[in-house]
Amino acid sequence: MSVTTAIQLITRGEAGAPGAAGATGTCTPDLAQNPWAFDALPLPDYGPGASMFDTAPAATPRQGELPEEYRTASAEDLDRRIRVARDTLGESVVILGHFYQRDEVVQYADFVGDSYQLARAATERTAAEAIIFCGVHFMAETADMLSTPEQAVILPNLAAGCSMADMADIDSVSECWDQLTALLGSAPDADGRRPVIPVTYMNSSAALKGFCGENGGIVCTSSNAAAVLEWAFERGQRVLFFPDQHLGRNTAKAMGVPLEQMPLWNPRKPWGGTDEQTLRDSRVILWHGFCSVHRRFTVAQIEKARADHPGVRVIVHPECPMAVVDVADEAGSTDYIRKAIDAAAPGSTFAVGTEINMVNRLAAQYPQHTIFCLDPVICPCSTMYRIHPGYLAWVLEGLVEGRVLNRITVSDAVAEPARVALNRMLAVRP
Ligand code: 13P
Ligand code: SF4
Repeated sequence: MSVTTAIQLITRGEAGAPGAAGATGTCTPDLAQNPWAFDALPLPDYGPGASMFDTAPAATPRQGELPEEYRTASAEDLDRRIRVARDTLGESVVILGHFYQRDEVVQYADFVGDSYQLARAATERTAAEAIIFCGVHFMAETADMLSTPEQAVILPNLAAGCSMADMADIDSVSECWDQLTALLGSAPDADGRRPVIPVTYMNSSAALKGFCGENGGIVCTSSNAAAVLEWAFERGQRVLFFPDQHLGRNTAKAMGVPLEQMPLWNPRKPWGGTDEQTLRDSRVILWHGFCSVHRRFTVAQIEKARADHPGVRVIVHPECPMAVVDVADEAGSTDYIRKAIDAAAPGSTFAVGTEINMVNRLAAQYPQHTIFCLDPVICPCSTMYRIHPGYLAWVLEGLVEGRVLNRITVSDAVAEPARVALNRMLAVRP
């Protein structure tokens, strides 16, 4: 049963429906509504789901109202229209999907993967004239920068952003950089290592990737963060890591960096809320960003899973807080989680700390195991949730009619330095 169906059953008072991955409720009944109900809200809003209480910046892209024919079409009608359009377009279009997409969308994807694999896929699908990216905005921007100039990258719903990516913007990071440079200088030491190397998580705007490219920095994803940090430490005395404090802290801690050498930089406070001496002594300066999906996982949930399921293997995503990663058996990217489950002996039990659509799908794909989400409340990623088959049908039929809808383009001025940082990442071998 898909997460969408489970949410609908739960909101109708049928909690505990089979296949709901042990869920006892949802974080909001609004999840039972279709995403277009939130397109026309007067304020920028992430919509219902795990990041619904995060503040969306005023410049957050908005999605205009989806034409009525797609809003009112039945699931069967949308399915038929998507398949007909897909067949008509043939090889000229490729559909990429992130693991966190709803099943109703994933079923149409030509390739499903983690953010690193999807970036690679965008470099490899050169035959397609259009890449429809069922994921979030920063992933579509990256695909645009890594694909050929002739290819159009399409994000079916422009409101599919990422609240964590929005927690770091180019102005605040540039201001932080200026302060760090004034304090620490910019000249390399006797070993040729610069005072600070900027490292941005893939979950960031193209502008921040460009900033890294221009300032000797690099991009990382959750699947290569340790290798990328090693790359950065070879070239610098310390790292400025943004936007996800948890991925930065968890990765650097596993590499032996002491916590006292990882101050947090809060852009709303003078000196980031830390002090000059701490910054001088630092190895990794962590931006005050986080993922609201992964922040929901707790040590208490892990303790309960272990009490209820002796022998359970607990795997969490490294965007979870440090206390959760420390107590879990393993931490890794979405593809790491998938591979660990795939390689396990039949009859294994897994408690997984990542987005519910992926966990629920793994539970269905591996019936020989018991797989459940650590969080008993269904609360999907709000922004991944914004992609729905209705938008997919709309952009596909647009292409059939010769109209490229919702194209994501990054200007050359930003894309050129951003590609430098992305290519550095693609050259790093984990
Ligand atoms: P992955 O890189 O593991 O796919 O994660 C992307 C993401 O957005 C996790 O929240
Ligand atoms: Fe962003 Fe978190 Fe959603 Fe990933 S799960 S896209 S980090 S809000």
